[in-house]
Amino acid sequence: MFYSDELIEEVRSRNDIVDVIGSYVNLKHKGNSYTACCPFHHEKTPSFHVSRERQMYHCFGCGVGGNVFTFLMEHENYSFPEAVEALAERAGVSLPERNMTKEERKKADERTRIKEMNKIAAGYFHYLLKTEHGNGALTYLKNRGITDEMITQFGLGYSDKFSDDLYKYLKSKGYKDDEMLKAGLIKVDEKYGPSDRFWNRVMYPIIDPNNRVIGFGGRVLGDGVPKYINSQDTPVFDKSRNLYGLNLAKKSKRKGVIFCEGYMDVISMHQAGFDNAVASLGTALTVGQVNLIKRYTDRVYLAYDSDEAGTKAALRALQIMREFEMPARVISLKPYKDPDELIQNEGMEEFERRIETAVSGIMFEIDILEHNYNQNDPQEKTEFQKEVAKCLSRIMEPLERDNYINSVSEKYSIDVKALKEAVTAYGVSGAANIDTSVFRQQERRGSPEEEKEKQQLKTERVLITWLINDNELIPAIEKILSPYDFSDPVYRSVVEMIYQQYTASNKVEPAVIMNHFESREDHEKVSSIMQQDFGVEITANEKSGAITDLVKRIKRKSIQNRIDNAGADLEKIKQLMVEKKSIEKIKINVF
Ligand code: CTP
Ligand code: MN
Repeated sequence: MFYSDELIEEVRSRNDIVDVIGSYVNLKHKGNSYTACCPFHHEKTPSFHVSRERQMYHCFGCGVGGNVFTFLMEHENYSFPEAVEALAERAGVSLPERNMTKEERKKADERTRIKEMNKIAAGYFHYLLKTEHGNGALTYLKNRGITDEMITQFGLGYSDKFSDDLYKYLKSKGYKDDEMLKAGLIKVDEKYGPSDRFWNRVMYPIIDPNNRVIGFGGRVLGDGVPKYINSQDTPVFDKSRNLYGLNLAKKSKRKGVIFCEGYMDVISMHQAGFDNAVASLGTALTVGQVNLIKRYTDRVYLAYDSDEAGTKAALRALQIMREFEMPARVISLKPYKDPDELIQNEGMEEFERRIETAVSGIMFEIDILEHNYNQNDPQEKTEFQKEVAKCLSRIMEPLERDNYINSVSEKYSIDVKALKEAVTAYGVSGAANIDTSVFRQQERRGSPEEEKEKQQLKTERVLITWLINDNELIPAIEKILSPYDFSDPVYRSVVEMIYQQYTASNKVEPAVIMNHFESREDHEKVSSIMQQDFGVEITANEKSGAITDLVKRIKRKSIQNRIDNAGADLEKIKQLMVEKKSIEKIKINVF
């Protein structure tokens, strides 16, 4: 931990969670909590709750939650110390610098300075575009029909013909060669020394959802090669976890998000009013990008190039979308090559129509399959039909599967009954092995041991939730269960802190407990225990029974573990056996 617990707690308590979150999302007061549509996933009815009393937030829709630090970690993509620093600044708490180790301070500074350099570079490129030097680039953009409004909105720019003007400019601002190199803004040649990475190119700054410039793409003015140069990955830029245009698309009122292949496609689509367009950054779609987009939408459209490469990319993207359960449709751009061309030639109404008639991923795949087989050859036709059946057998939802079977049989003149039988056959035989979503469900079930462990963790979680929601239970339970009876190290620390807080002040403050965890995973884990609301009214008798049962189960498992680890120490085992027997007498009474 960079800062002392006291300081972290001071920062937390001086930043009221309702005020902080309220500055990001529109909170509505409702009962004793504040609600909004969740900023972390797409929804129409608000299931995001913020509690002033507990100083915690939780979304019942997607399960995220935590304290004010967690919120900044999630929303701004900050590390824990960065979240503490931002909130300290907000509340005017000064933090000592020396508590960071040298290495940590260096890393944090490095990231900050790279972001600064990127911002300066983007400003500089944008400025150049509007000077005489940028005439050629500006003309190029104008010839492609890009408006001034889009140039401003996307912060487009121009990197000059000189090969070291940015280098000199940054140098004059005090940045060092190795920093610029790390930022990916310069190259260093053994013989010729440092030079700009981008020169004589139209510049597309890549801006993350928090409006920070994290990298660049640069296009030649005309037909040279390489057509694009992109920033390498840097400490602030991970290509596989960012999307071009997401900073704007996240604010769109349109349904879904449209994925296209290129920078120019995104700009052209935004210009035509499709401000929900994004593109991956010169690579194929990644799992990280699908996970990212899941926070913003529940539906994706693919508007990939209509050539062979684009089709391949779409098929691969569909596979990832399917694995991550993101519904995807494919927009046909034919006879045009890409969205930019289609819009330039046919206008936005036509594109709107293409969105409406976009086909589901499965229909798209079957269409592609059809072209791979000679439908006039009986044998190939059979092969095709088998592939179709395999494809359809991946649809888990029976009604949906039937609907697809019907429309596919009609469209490709395949006998319904035969198709249905084939689909079922694949469903129960080998096909399940092909389908990754089935795979994942099987994995989720786990081996019997894993299931037992999961069950145990759940028991521990539920009991801790009771302790937090109903502090009066603490004294009785503390007598029986020590923190070490809990098997999960995170839960163990939570219980320890609950006991400490209760002893000190007769109450438990969840948001303070949260302070002690730094990683995103831990925040997620801890906040899930703190927010579970059982939402049921039960009698004191039922509650006593339930809690007694939980306590017994935890104790029994804990003693069993100790027995298993006692080796040949018979004396110890004997003692533990006695202790184990006494578990049966445990009775917690709740009034
Ligand atoms: N790309 C790249 N390097 C290249 C070519 C392409 O990184 N040499 C990436 C870029 O991110 C580009 C995307 O692949 O945006 C799609 O390529 P393309 O369709 O050729 O580019 P567009 O952005 O559509 O640009 P333009 O219309 O100017 O050709
Ligand atoms: Mn293109």
